[in-house]
Amino acid sequence: MNAMENSVQFVQWLRSVAPYIHAFRGQTFVIAFPGELVKAGALPVLAQDLSLLHALGIKVVIVHGSRPQVEEQLALRNMAPRFHNGLRVTDTAAMECAKEAAGELRLDIEAAFSQGLPNTPMAHSEIRVISGNFVTARPLGVIDGVDLELTGVTRKIAHEVIRPIVNAGGLVLLSPLGFSPTGEVFNLSMEDVATAAAIALRADKLIFLTETPLMSNAAGDEIRELTAAQAEALLKASELPPDVAFYLDHCVQASRRGVPRAHMVPYEIDGSPLLEIFTHDGVGTMVSYENLESLRQATIEDVGGILKLIEPHEADGTLVKRPRELIEREIDHFSVIEHDGVIFGCAALYPFPAENMAEMACLIVSPDAQTQGDGERLLKHMENRARAAGLRKLFVLTTRTAHWFLKRGFMPATVDTLPKDRQSMYNWQRKSLVFVKNL
Ligand SMILES: CC(C)(COP(=O)(O)OP(=O)(O)OC[C@H]1O[C@@H](n2cnc3c(N)ncnc32)[C@H](O)[C@@H]1OP(=O)(O)O)[C@@H](O)C(=O)NCCC(=O)NCCS
Repeated sequence: MNAMENSVQFVQWLRSVAPYIHAFRGQTFVIAFPGELVKAGALPVLAQDLSLLHALGIKVVIVHGSRPQVEEQLALRNMAPRFHNGLRVTDTAAMECAKEAAGELRLDIEAAFSQGLPNTPMAHSEIRVISGNFVTARPLGVIDGVDLELTGVTRKIAHEVIRPIVNAGGLVLLSPLGFSPTGEVFNLSMEDVATAAAIALRADKLIFLTETPLMSNAAGDEIRELTAAQAEALLKASELPPDVAFYLDHCVQASRRGVPRAHMVPYEIDGSPLLEIFTHDGVGTMVSYENLESLRQATIEDVGGILKLIEPHEADGTLVKRPRELIEREIDHFSVIEHDGVIFGCAALYPFPAENMAEMACLIVSPDAQTQGDGERLLKHMENRARAAGLRKLFVLTTRTAHWFLKRGFMPATVDTLPKDRQSMYNWQRKSLVFVKNL
C-alpha cells in the first residue's frame, strides 16, 4: 500500500470512529481485569488503551483482580489455598497474602499509568490514579457449615466520593479488598467489586477484560450479544465453563440493576477494549437489558447522527445535499437504526397522498455495518410506514443503487409516473433512475 492509500484509509478510519467518540464522551465506564492480565505482561498496553479512553473524555474507573498474585504469595509462604464451592476461604495468613498482592498490583498499575515517554501513545497523558477506602464490605459468613472467614462481599461503594474525582479527570482504581465499620479488611472478588461499582456509579458500561476466550454456545457458535433474559437462560442451562458463567452472572446482575451495557472481552486480542468500544461488532460479548438494535422513528436528537451518515454520500454524489435545517424540519419523515447509542442507518419517507404514493429517500447504512441485512430492515420498516399511511406505491430515485432496489421488488419506471409535485422537482442534470414498488 502506498503512502497516499494509507492516509486515505487512516482518515476514513478516524471518521468512522467519530460517532462513538461523540456518543461516549462524558460517559462512565467501569473496566475490570483479572490478575492474569498483569501476569501475562499486558498491563503497559492496557494502560495505554485506557489512557486513550480517558483522553477521549470517558470517565474511567478500573478494578483489578489478584488471584494468581495471591496464589504466588501463598506459595512463597508454603501455604495451600483453601476453597469452598469455588470461593476462597481467607484466613488471617491468606489475608496477608491478599494485602501484599493488592499493594504490589496497585503500585504496578500506578507505574503503568505514569508512562509518558515522547513518541509513545502515552506522551503528554499525565493521568492521576486515585485509590482509597472506597469499598465497604461485609463477611460472606458461614456457608454449608464452612466459615469463609475474611472472604467478603461488597456492601457499598463510595460513589459520592468517586464521582467528583472522575469528573475532575482522575482515574479511580479499586482493589478487590473492602473495609468494614469494625475496621477489618475483607477479601472480595474483582467481579463483585466491579459490578457493585458500575451499579452505584450508574455507569454506562461495565467491561470485564477476561482471560477466558470469546463466549460460545454448546454448538461452538460465538455469542456476541445477549439480552439479560437470554443470558439468564444460558446460565440456567449450565453449559458454560464456571469462569465464563461467573463473569456472565455479574454482567446480568449489572444489567438488571440499571447498567445499560455489560461486556466480556478477551484481553488476549491486542487492543480489545478499543475494538469493543469503537467498532460496530466489537470483539467480545455484550449483555444489555433490552434488544440492542432498535429501529424507530427519528427524533430531533438524531439529527447529528443522521448528518454524519449522509455527509460522505453527499461528498461522493450518491445523495443530494441536505442542510441541517432541512433535516431538522423533516425529522418526522426519518427512521433510524441505533446500536448501543450510535445511529448507523437511516431512511426518510415522503408521502404523496393525492397519488397514493410515497418516496423513500436517504436510505443509508454506515459502511462498517453494511451487508448484514439492515438496509433491508430499513426498507421493510419504511414500506410498513407507507402502508400504515394507506399508500399503495413506494418509489425511489437513485443514481448508483439501482440493483439493490431491483433485487428487492422495485421495477424501473419513468419520471412521468411520479406524483406531479415530485416531477416538477426532478433534477434533470442528476438523471436519477426511478424505481417503483407496489405495496
Ligand atoms: C444501499 C445500502 C443502504 C444497503 O445497506 P445494507 O445494510 O448493506 O443492505 P443489506 O444488508 O440489506 O444488503 C446488502 C446487499 O446489497 C448489496 N449492495 C450494496 N450496495 C449496492 C449497490 N449500490 N448496488 C447493488 N447492490 C448493492 C451488497 O453487495 C449486499 O449483497 P449480498 O446480500 O448479495 O451480499 C448501503 O449499501 C448504503 O448505505 N449505500 C450508500 C448509500 C446509498 O447508496 N443509498 C441509496 C441511495 S438511493
